[in-house]
Amino acid sequence: MCGIIGYVGKKEAYEILIKGLERLEYRGYDSAGVALLSNNVISVYKKKGKVAELKNFIQKTPKGNIGIAHTRWATHGSPSDKNAHPQLSNSGNIAIVHNGIIENYLAIKEVLIKKGYKFKSDTDTEVLVNLIEDIRINGSKKLNLDEAVRLALQKVTGAYAILVLLKDEPDTVVIAKMGSPVVLGIGKEEFFIASDATPIIEYTNKVIYLEDEEMAIIKTNRESNKITIKTINNKIKNPNIHTIKTKIEELEKGGFKHFMLKEIFEQPHAIKDSILGRIKNGKVRMEEIGEYKNNLLNAKRIIILACGTSFHAGLESKYFFEEYSHIPVLVEYASEFRYRKPVIYKDDVVVAISQSGETADTLAAVKLAKEQGATIFSLCNVVGSSISRIAHVPIYTFAGPEIGVASTKAFTTQIAVLLLLCLFIASEKRLLSNKKIQNILTEFENIPQKIEQILLEDKSVKEIALKLYEMQNFIYLGRGYGFPLALEGALKLKEISYIHAEGYTAGEMKHGLLALVDKNMPVLFIANKGSSYEKVVSNIMEVKARNGIVISLITKGDARIKKIVDYVIEIPETSDVMLPFVASIPLQLLAYHIALLRGCEIDKPRNLAKSVTVE
Ligand code: G6P
Repeated sequence: MCGIIGYVGKKEAYEILIKGLERLEYRGYDSAGVALLSNNVISVYKKKGKVAELKNFIQKTPKGNIGIAHTRWATHGSPSDKNAHPQLSNSGNIAIVHNGIIENYLAIKEVLIKKGYKFKSDTDTEVLVNLIEDIRINGSKKLNLDEAVRLALQKVTGAYAILVLLKDEPDTVVIAKMGSPVVLGIGKEEFFIASDATPIIEYTNKVIYLEDEEMAIIKTNRESNKITIKTINNKIKNPNIHTIKTKIEELEKGGFKHFMLKEIFEQPHAIKDSILGRIKNGKVRMEEIGEYKNNLLNAKRIIILACGTSFHAGLESKYFFEEYSHIPVLVEYASEFRYRKPVIYKDDVVVAISQSGETADTLAAVKLAKEQGATIFSLCNVVGSSISRIAHVPIYTFAGPEIGVASTKAFTTQIAVLLLLCLFIASEKRLLSNKKIQNILTEFENIPQKIEQILLEDKSVKEIALKLYEMQNFIYLGRGYGFPLALEGALKLKEISYIHAEGYTAGEMKHGLLALVDKNMPVLFIANKGSSYEKVVSNIMEVKARNGIVISLITKGDARIKKIVDYVIEIPETSDVMLPFVASIPLQLLAYHIALLRGCEIDKPRNLAKSVTVE
């Protein structure tokens, strides 16, 4: 949700900033801009649209060794040139880029208007930059930029990650964070600042994660390079330098047409990497749980908090946990949970699932649960992300960076690790025999190979897409382990093809949804030969009796369903518990091919963003 990047060093900043924006574009892409500071002049270039449009707009490469840049996902003010960042203060002396929302901006704006400030944009960000300016110039002597920023931040509520430049301090960038993420990259005589590490790793693997209410002041000139970290209450902090392991190749498309397709095809590998070292001699090892093992084993219930696809992974895991570890599981949308008055017990274990580890609602819900005494486990794909840092037990998926906005490999790796967590509990509490666990693990270890087989059948999914891509609506139905998959399949289609799609449990179909079925309604059934098979076949018949178009995910060789439906997608035979791993793949591919045929922007669907760091 908005990407910000900054550079301070000896090199020309422009190319680094533009490249960084391109890497961060998955976070927001409705407008983009850069500001460069050179010879005490701040030059700002900004444009509605994608980074490519900004590049076209800037004819001559601007000069400067210090700069900040932004790619936007609109919150306050529609996408337009004037609302794009950087935003300038009234005097033009201060430039800011901002990710987040200043909640009390209207009250501050009124005060500033009374003082004579004029506003050119509809953004909360322009209010913040003018507040900084007002604080800087209004005392008996002008304040340094960092002090003005610090005092301004004491007056605002909401979320921010900001980078600020001042014309008169040509060697300085001030950075601050509350709620929204910021990473500082430490190079040789140069510094990089970004919303996440993706644009930094080609220059350095040494990073500092700024914490909430912290600010960093980076100064570099001929004599010295200096970074100071302090809180907005002026307490100096010692920076904690981390080494990140992501490789640059992981951020490229590697010959695929889209990141989404590449990420779909990466799933066998991503699952292998995520379970690597966690299965040994037929047993599950989860060393990261450490001293919190008893909290997990004695938990009376598990509360899963997540959003989007991660929520569906949580819902899928409810079936694992209840079947194998006999713990009641609540799966909650983080955005709802945090605004209720949820009852949380000290012996609750909360599992926060988030690919990015930065989703604002999930983060806030986790903070609430932690304050009320629950033990927090997190499952994230980004090491060092905000959610992992506040969890008692940070657990990771090792899917590699996921760039496509529609989540794919994050989902399958999340459910892979959640299954292991569940088997760990079952084994420690002796709820399953060693033999049973070994059997499940043996089947599980073959999953990457089964996914490879499905990926080879991509052509058959493409053919179905060709027949149905002009449809206006879709229904996805499943039962048991197939139900969260129906939700996820429908979400994938909505996200990238803009077709209205509903996921439902097949059993509920007769209580309303069936009214929508006619000859123009494609209904996709997850109809593998599992424990709900007969019931799902009956549901298929009910849809066929009303002339619906039926697409069925079937177990390879199932002649019975083949005879009654319009289209089939075959998946290898699995037990119920392994269904989500194999069945999610054709659902992702179907959404991908339909979106491609409809000419949609697959990796950056309209109105969406990868990392939603606002509420
Ligand atoms: C956004 C993304 C989704 C993602 C959701 C939750 O909506 O577009 O793909 O599932 O956020 O993100 P998280 O990083 O918390 O898993």
